[in-house]
Amino acid sequence: MSTQDSTAPKNLANIISHCKEYGFIFPSSEIYDGLSAVYDYGQWGVELKKNIKDLWWKSMVYMHENIVGIDSAIFMHPTIWKASGHVDNFSDPMIDNLDSKKRYRVDHLIEAYAEQVSGGESLNEEGQAVIAQMEALLAKDDFAGLKQLILDKKMTCSVSGTCNWTDVRQFNLMFSTQLGSVAEESDTIYLRPETAQGIFVNFINVQKSGRMKVPFGIAQIGKAFRNEIVARGFIFRMREFEQMEMQYFVRPGTQKTWYEYWKEARMKWHLELGIPVERYRFHDHVKLAHYADAACDIEYDFPMGFKEVEGIHSRTDFDLTQHQTYSKKKIQYFDNDIDEATGKPFGNYTPYVIETSIGLDRCILMCLSEAYCEEDLSTPEKQDSRVVLKFPPKIAPIKLAVLPLMKKDGLPEKARELMDHCRDSFLCFYEEKDSIGKRYRRMDALGTPFCVTIDHQSLEDNTVTIRFRDSMEQERIPMEEVKDRVLASLR
Ligand code: GAP
Repeated sequence: MSTQDSTAPKNLANIISHCKEYGFIFPSSEIYDGLSAVYDYGQWGVELKKNIKDLWWKSMVYMHENIVGIDSAIFMHPTIWKASGHVDNFSDPMIDNLDSKKRYRVDHLIEAYAEQVSGGESLNEEGQAVIAQMEALLAKDDFAGLKQLILDKKMTCSVSGTCNWTDVRQFNLMFSTQLGSVAEESDTIYLRPETAQGIFVNFINVQKSGRMKVPFGIAQIGKAFRNEIVARGFIFRMREFEQMEMQYFVRPGTQKTWYEYWKEARMKWHLELGIPVERYRFHDHVKLAHYADAACDIEYDFPMGFKEVEGIHSRTDFDLTQHQTYSKKKIQYFDNDIDEATGKPFGNYTPYVIETSIGLDRCILMCLSEAYCEEDLSTPEKQDSRVVLKFPPKIAPIKLAVLPLMKKDGLPEKARELMDHCRDSFLCFYEEKDSIGKRYRRMDALGTPFCVTIDHQSLEDNTVTIRFRDSMEQERIPMEEVKDRVLASLR
């Protein structure tokens, strides 16, 4: 038997078709030929998503007495996006091919070139040199230099094949719409491009109503929208996606310590997903966003290479100060702890912020990529194979499948007894159609860690066969032990 271990390279196209075939993720509006870079979660995808959300929420809100959650609206006052800098700065350098009229994000065009000249998964010297040049030019906002690099390297459009390019220009990524019926400029509002601003503008509400003491955090999970020009990589880069963000408000001067704390804490969370450490790396930002004094990404080794899954940013007091200026409302905190240097309370200040921001959909793609395995189970007598999703039980959509061996002789009734005993604790799935082998394979493809088979012996001695997804081994155990076995795997 040859198995694909979780570290073997995975094929994104296979993962995408598996997700569709088994009810995880569908292209949006598919019967109308789809909508680019928008996806719907199906019956099992939504369970996977919920499990990952719950893990994050628990690690942030339940495990920290000083972090609380909120759920702010997607629509917000338009001035918020002026204050945050998104109206003026939330843009990417773009370039258009004059022959095909296709528009590219400059960094994507150059990255694709670097991968092409490297001819493999990892970048060779030439590829790395091009990326280094690009990063240096981006850091200086040197658009003429970026265009020159594209021309010097003769980077071509994938549609026209030419290198007939426009100048590099900035393109704002926010979606706008009208509030009410009058199309005046004051009515223009934006679909939020990040959930973070909903946290900043509620800082005073939460701090006062919750009597929160700095340092404290506010966590939020919600939709964000970006008009990505080149949306690629399935649910990696979408136009409508979900973020799980936490803003941690700290005393000015302590931000470096908290930045390091959250880098470590977030990596620990990632490792607790059962993904080996070598599949992750930190990437420190060369070009800092307008609000940051330090920033890094946690990157995961996706089927298309190492890419960002989460950002950790030290955002200074930029956001709260901006909202104070634009709203003309005081956004400060009075710290009555004693400053040892002066012997007096720290007094009034605008807190600094450490942000952890993970894309939920990207995290789902990471978990799917890690779990997806194609296994050849052939023996000299018979060709056989399976696709199995080796999710850790705590994120698996279905925890337990209950399978009566036959549709008669009281086996379904016995199986239903087990379903009723377990269903209030975790998601169970009942299936009596098809051969037991086919049912096992289907559960493997959905990532169900445990299958229990009810047979005639179960009626006599109340024992069942439990089958373990990854090893495919089976064990005969008393039926009343099944629930505890499954629960133990979820801890
Ligand atoms: N509040 C900070 C912020 O939004 P970001 O680096 O722009 O920072 C944070 O986004 C995370 O959101 C990223 O690490 C990524 O996981 C996710 N994300 C960003 N754009 C995305 C997109 N178009 N599709 C899916 N996920 C996206």
